[in-house]
Amino acid sequence: MSDGDLQVFGIDLGTTYSAIAYVDETGRPAVCRNTDSSETTPSVVFFENESNVVVGSVAKNSAIIDPDRVVSLIKRQMGSEAEFEFDGSTYTPESISALILKQLAQDAAAHTGGEVARAVITVPAYFGMQERSATKQAGTIAGLDVIGIVPEPVAAALHYEATTGADDKTILVYDLGGGTFDTTVIRVSTDEIVVVCTDGDDHLGGADWDLRLRNHLLAKFQEQAPDDVEVEDDEEFLQSLATTAEDTKKQLSKAESRAVALRGAGVSARVEVSRAQFETETQDLLDKTVDIVKRTLATLESKEPGTKIDEVLLVGGATKMPAVTERLRAEFGWDPKLHDPDLAVAKGAALYALGRVVHREASEDGAAGVSEAVRNVAQQTGISVRALENLAAKQTRNVLPKAFGVKVVDSSDPDWRSKPLQHIVKHMVHANDSLPTEERTLETATVQEGQTGVSIELYEQSGVVAGPDLAENKEISEGKGLIDGLPPMPIGSPVNIRMTVDDEGLLELTATEPSTGKSLDIKVRVSVRSDEEVQEAAKKIAGITVSG
Ligand SMILES: Nc1ncnc2c1ncn2[C@@H]1O[C@H](COP(=O)(O)OP(=O)(O)OP(=O)(O)O)[C@@H](O)[C@H]1O
Ligand SMILES: [Mg+2]
Repeated sequence: MSDGDLQVFGIDLGTTYSAIAYVDETGRPAVCRNTDSSETTPSVVFFENESNVVVGSVAKNSAIIDPDRVVSLIKRQMGSEAEFEFDGSTYTPESISALILKQLAQDAAAHTGGEVARAVITVPAYFGMQERSATKQAGTIAGLDVIGIVPEPVAAALHYEATTGADDKTILVYDLGGGTFDTTVIRVSTDEIVVVCTDGDDHLGGADWDLRLRNHLLAKFQEQAPDDVEVEDDEEFLQSLATTAEDTKKQLSKAESRAVALRGAGVSARVEVSRAQFETETQDLLDKTVDIVKRTLATLESKEPGTKIDEVLLVGGATKMPAVTERLRAEFGWDPKLHDPDLAVAKGAALYALGRVVHREASEDGAAGVSEAVRNVAQQTGISVRALENLAAKQTRNVLPKAFGVKVVDSSDPDWRSKPLQHIVKHMVHANDSLPTEERTLETATVQEGQTGVSIELYEQSGVVAGPDLAENKEISEGKGLIDGLPPMPIGSPVNIRMTVDDEGLLELTATEPSTGKSLDIKVRVSVRSDEEVQEAAKKIAGITVSG
C-alpha cells in the first residue's frame, strides 16, 4: 500500500502499551510495527529537552537514570487538571498523550508509506464523557482527524466477531490491561454490536501486580543486605527494580519460579520467587476483579433477567497471568478464551474505523448513500467492496459510562428551610443506560421566597457508585446556566428539567419555569479543554520532534 493518507487507523492508546493498526487490502486488520520492530510501544514519554521527546522503550529505559524527566501511566490522569512542567513548558495529560499518538502515527506512516490522518482511538469502557473527550482532544493535538472514539471491549468484540463469525452471542469481555480493568457484557450478531452493561476500575491493572512484586523483591533484597545499607536512596536501583519486577511477572506466566539477580547500593543478592508466592501476594487484586465481574452480572440480571453468558473473552496483556483463567473457571465455571490479548483492541479499532469512514462519506452533502460510499472507500483503500459492506452494516450501540445529574438543594431533612442550604446531585441518566437515552425528567422547585432566577449546574459521577455528595461528582463547566428575569416567585415554585444523551455522547438539558414558560437550553459535549486550548497545544506539539 502506498496511499497511507487514504488509510484509516485504529489506535489502542494504552496505559502501559499502545498499538496502531489498519485494515489491509484483504480486509484483515494488521498491526504496524514500530522502530524496534515491535507491535506494541510502551506508553512512556521522556522529555529530553524543550524540542525533543522520546516515546517508547528507550523512554522506558530512561526512567532508570532520569526518572524526573519521564512520564508514564498518563492515561490514569486523562480528563483531570493535572499539569507537568519540563524546560519551562507546561504539559497537560492530553498533550502528553498526544506525544505518544504522534509517535504511533509516525511509526504507522513509516510502515504503510504514507501520512496518517484519520484515526479511531479506543478508551476503557468505564471512561466517563470527560475522559473520552480528553482522549479525542489528545488526538486532535497530535494532528489527527479523530473520526471516532470506541470503547476497548467493543473493539475487541468486533475483532472477535470478524475472526470467528460469532453469531448472536452474549459475550463478557474481561479486560485487564496495564492500568485499567473493565468487564463488559456485549451482544454480538452479524449486524449489531450492543453493549449491555459495563463496569470497571480505572486504577487497577498489571502495574499494580508489578508494584507488589517490586515490593516483594525489595523486601527479600533487604533481608540479604547488611543493616546499614540504605537502598531506598538508590533511585537508579529502585527504578530498575520496577523494570525487573515487570519482566519477572511476565516470566512467571510461563515458568513456575524464577531466580532474580539484584544489585543496588553496592550489594548483590539473588532472590527466588515462585508463581504460587506471587499469586498469594496479589490475591486481593484478583479478588477485586472478581467482585467487579459479580457486580456486572448483577447489573446484567437487573437489566435483562435470565441472560446467559455464552463466551468469556480475555483481553489485555495482564490476562496472560494463568491465575486469571484459573480463578474465573473456579469462581464461575467458565472456560475463558484468551483472544489476541495484546492486539485485539487496536485491530478491532481499525475495523471500526473503516465502518465509520463509510458512514461519514455516506452522510456528506450530495452523497448517494452507503453503497456509493462503500465503492469510494474501496477505491481509496484497495479493500474489497464485500469486506467494506460487512463492516458498514455493523451497528454499534453503547451505554452511558457514568451518571449525569443536576445540583439541587437537599430537601430530605423536613426542617431544611430553616437551615443553611445543603446541595446534592440528583442523577437523571445513569451508568449503563442504553444510548441514546430516553428523555428523563425531574421536577424540582425554587428554594427561596421571592426567587427571581434559577441556576442550573450539571455534574458527572466521578466514583464507581453514583453517590449524591458533590464530592462524588465532577462539575461540568459547560453545563452551567441561569434562568433569570423571573417575577419574584413563592418558595417551592416548580422548575422542570429534561435531559437526554445521544449515542455520540451529546447531552441536552432543558430547564423550564412553567408559569412564565422561560427556559434554558444547554447542549454539551463534555470536554475538559476549550477549542482554543486544544489549538494552542496542537501548535506546541507540532513544534516538538518525537522519536522512538
Ligand atoms: N506474559 C504476560 N504475563 C503477565 N502480564 C503481562 C504479560 N504480557 C504483558 N503483561 C502485562 O500486561 C499489561 C499491559 O497490557 P495491555 O497492553 O493490554 O495494557 P494497556 O493497554 O497498556 O492498559 P489499559 O488497557 O489498562 O490502558 C502490562 O502490565 C504488562 O506487564
Ligand atoms: Mg488496553
